[in-house]
Amino acid sequence: MSAHVTPPPAGEVSLRVDRVTKVFADPTGAPVTAVDDVSLAVYAGEFVSLLGPSGCGKTTLLRIIAGFETPTAGEIELAGQRVTHLPPDVRGTAMVFQSYALFPHLDVFENVAFGLRVRGTGAAETRERVADALALVGLEGLSRRSPDQLSGGQQQRVAVARAVVTRPRVLLLDEPLSNLDAKLREQMRIELRRIQREVGITAIYVTHDQVEAMTLADRIVVLDRGRVQQLAPPAELYARPANAFVAEFVGKVNLLEGRVLETRDGACRVALPAMEAVVPSARRVEAGVRVGVVVRPETVHLAQEGALRGAVRRAVYLGSQVEYEVEVGGELLQAIGRSPLEEGIFREGQDVGVTIGFQVAHLLVLDGEA
Ligand SMILES: Nc1ncnc2c1ncn2[C@@H]1O[C@H](COP(=O)(O)OP(=O)(O)O)[C@@H](O)[C@H]1O
Ligand SMILES: [Mg+2]
Repeated sequence: MSAHVTPPPAGEVSLRVDRVTKVFADPTGAPVTAVDDVSLAVYAGEFVSLLGPSGCGKTTLLRIIAGFETPTAGEIELAGQRVTHLPPDVRGTAMVFQSYALFPHLDVFENVAFGLRVRGTGAAETRERVADALALVGLEGLSRRSPDQLSGGQQQRVAVARAVVTRPRVLLLDEPLSNLDAKLREQMRIELRRIQREVGITAIYVTHDQVEAMTLADRIVVLDRGRVQQLAPPAELYARPANAFVAEFVGKVNLLEGRVLETRDGACRVALPAMEAVVPSARRVEAGVRVGVVVRPETVHLAQEGALRGAVRRAVYLGSQVEYEVEVGGELLQAIGRSPLEEGIFREGQDVGVTIGFQVAHLLVLDGEA
C-alpha cells in the first residue's frame, strides 16, 4: 500500500466555510464555544459528512451554513458568493431535519409543493416538479396521503422530496435517518446516495454514526469540541487518522503507546511495553519521542503457531467473524478472526500465536499534541 495522501477533489467550490466560530451563552450566561475556528471547502457534487460525538457542534455548523444562525466570527460562501448575513431562503440551500418537520395539515403533494408555492411557481410547473420529486424518492401514488398515514421511512422520503424540489445548490441533512430502525436506515442510506448522485447535488450530511459517514460520504469532516480534527476520504481517515481522537472515533483500534528508538528509510522502530515494532512513518521522528501506534483489530491475526505468544481473554462469535481480546505481554489487544468456518474459533483461555500487522500500522506523535 502506498503512503500517498488523497488530494482534495478538483472543480468548483460549492461551499466554503472560512474560520467560522460560534459562541453561545449557557443558562448561567457563561460562554460555550460550539464551533471553534472551522474552515473547509466542499466541491460541487460532493457528499461530505460532518461526523462527531453529540455536542461537538455539528448541528450548529449546519445551521450556520443554512442561515438559521449567524456566526460569532468567520464567513460562509456558497457558489462563490458571501452569504454569511443573508437569510436562509435566498441561499440556495435546503435542509432535511431528523424530525422530518412535515406540515401535518398538508397532504404529501402540498408538503412537497410548499417551497414552489412560496416562490410563486405556476400550477402546471408545480404539478410536474412535485411529480418528478415524488418519483425520485419512490412515492408516486401517495400524493394525497396525509403525513400521519405514512411510515417513518415514507415521511423521510417526503422531507427529501420537499428539499430537492426547489433545486437547491446544496442539500443539508441533520441526522435524517436516526429515527428509523436499523434495517430501514441501511436501505435509506443507499437511497439517499442514489438520489444525491441522480440530482448531482452537493450534500452536507450530519451524523454521529461513523458507519453511516463511512458508507455515504466522499469525504468526512471529523469534529470534536467544535474543532475540525481531520477532513479526509473514509479510507484515509481509517488508515491514517490524524490523532488519537480520530483513531478511536472511526472504527475499532488498538492504540499502543511507546517511544521511538530510531527512524530511517520511512519507518520508525518503536519500543512498546511488550515488544518492539517497525512502523511506517512519512515523517522523521526523533528518538525518545512518545508515540501511539494505531493497529486495527483486523490486522491482528491469531493462529496455533507463531513466535509471539498470547492468551485469548475473550471470544465473541458473530457468525462471519470472531472478535477476540488477546493478552500479549501484559497488553490486551483486540483481534478479529476473519473466517471462523475456515479457521475455527479459539477459545477463551487458549494459548495462541499472534501476528500483528505493524507494516500497515499508523504512527501518531503524542508528545506535544494538544
Ligand atoms: N441555542 C443554543 N444556546 C446555547 N448553547 C447551545 C445552543 N445550541 C447549541 N448549543 C451548545 O453548543 C454545543 C454544540 O451543540 P450542537 O451543535 O447541537 O452539537 P451536535 O449537533 O454535534 O450534537 C453544545 O454544547 C450545545 O449545548
Ligand atoms: Mg445535532
